[in-house]
Amino acid sequence: MTEPRKILTVFGTRPEAIKLFPLVHALDADPRFVSRVCVSGQHRGMLDQVLEIAGITPHHDLDLMQPNQTLDLLTANLLTGIGTVLDEEKPDIVIVQGDTATAMSGALAAYYRQIPVAHVEAGLRSGNIHHPWPEEVNRKIVGSFAALHFAPTETAASALRRENVDPATVHVTGNTVIDALYWITAQIRENPALASGLSELEERFAGKRIIGVTSHRRENFGGGMEAIADAIRRIATRDDVAMIFPVHLNPNVRKVMNSALEGLDNVALIEPLDYPHFARLLDICTLMLTDSGGVQEEAPALGKPVLVMRETTERPEGVEAGTAKLVGTDADRIVTECNRLLDDAEAYGEMARAHNPFGDGHSVERIVELLAKG
Ligand code: UD1
Ligand code: UDP
Repeated sequence: MTEPRKILTVFGTRPEAIKLFPLVHALDADPRFVSRVCVSGQHRGMLDQVLEIAGITPHHDLDLMQPNQTLDLLTANLLTGIGTVLDEEKPDIVIVQGDTATAMSGALAAYYRQIPVAHVEAGLRSGNIHHPWPEEVNRKIVGSFAALHFAPTETAASALRRENVDPATVHVTGNTVIDALYWITAQIRENPALASGLSELEERFAGKRIIGVTSHRRENFGGGMEAIADAIRRIATRDDVAMIFPVHLNPNVRKVMNSALEGLDNVALIEPLDYPHFARLLDICTLMLTDSGGVQEEAPALGKPVLVMRETTERPEGVEAGTAKLVGTDADRIVTECNRLLDDAEAYGEMARAHNPFGDGHSVERIVELLAKG
């Protein structure tokens, strides 16, 4: 019998945790692997929310988050912290996901030790190193040396091949976010109490159309965030809508949003929701206004139109399918596009189609088989 392969999965932020927990569950249950988990703690509260709901206790927790952390200090601490764990664990392969500082540093620390890296959600490209920043460069760095590239879509796989990545190492697997979304939806079906915490807001806003909002991109700090806040304030002048906005814990986001939006009757600024409650928000909303990556993937899967408050997207599949629209961070444009969806039933109907270009809920199975082959 061959020895089980030792896999170290490294992550640190909310979206990485959401997109990797189904894979960790599968590796834990598969005797072909010894599965170890290292969290960097790049996020704290928002990471812990996911770990708890997914029932994952990491083997290593570097607890690196610092208030308002700078990219250089964060990256330096990640590189040395994850390196120490790699020296202790000596895994056969390291898994990272996406394009965060944790993913980039975890991959680099593995590369420095000549440990092969498997990259989940490989090949996303906006083509602009300033949007999203610093994610576009983070993912290009990982893509330049990963041994296995798990591309969510054919578009992402083609981007890697265009960068001369060995095609034999590129596999279209779908995005594990859809596996996560289906898992959490099934959990909520079994136990509705998991997502019942929004009921007070749902009662308060009964009869109004709900708009879900999230915003956190670093490249939008300053002017972009203020324009987004301005747009929200203007949309909220309508008496037929209510906005539910779980505010990201980044102080640069909270400062702007709290001072611009506090006190408006139909704008609920709330703490970050755990994953079941966010899935509930996706379920009850009429549309999503967001600059998030993951939300661009989840909302179309549930037939919810997404207005993407960014200049570019590395997820053109939703835009091509007509379920997502890039509206930038110009307040007038955001307000106009939002009002159009609210007032024009035909325009709304065209965007509100369940469409799933990002995955079929079986991405993890494909990834596990590829990892087993090595
Ligand atoms: C990070 C990722 C970004 C990802 C986003 C998902 C990088 C450079 N950025 O951005 O790619 O899209 O996460 O949300 O990797 N904070 C808390 N508690 C938390 C989380 C954050 O207090 O649970 C605060 C801290 O003050 C922290 C700050 O937010 O210093 C920024 O966190 P950081 O991870 O550096 O950047 P994000 O903007 O969250
Ligand atoms: N999400 C959540 N609670 C919230 C907001 C978002 O659980 O209050 C989830 C959402 O469902 C998605 C992920 O967090 O899966 C997206 O994370 P984020 O927007 O922070 O990062 P990005 O995807 O832009 O990297």
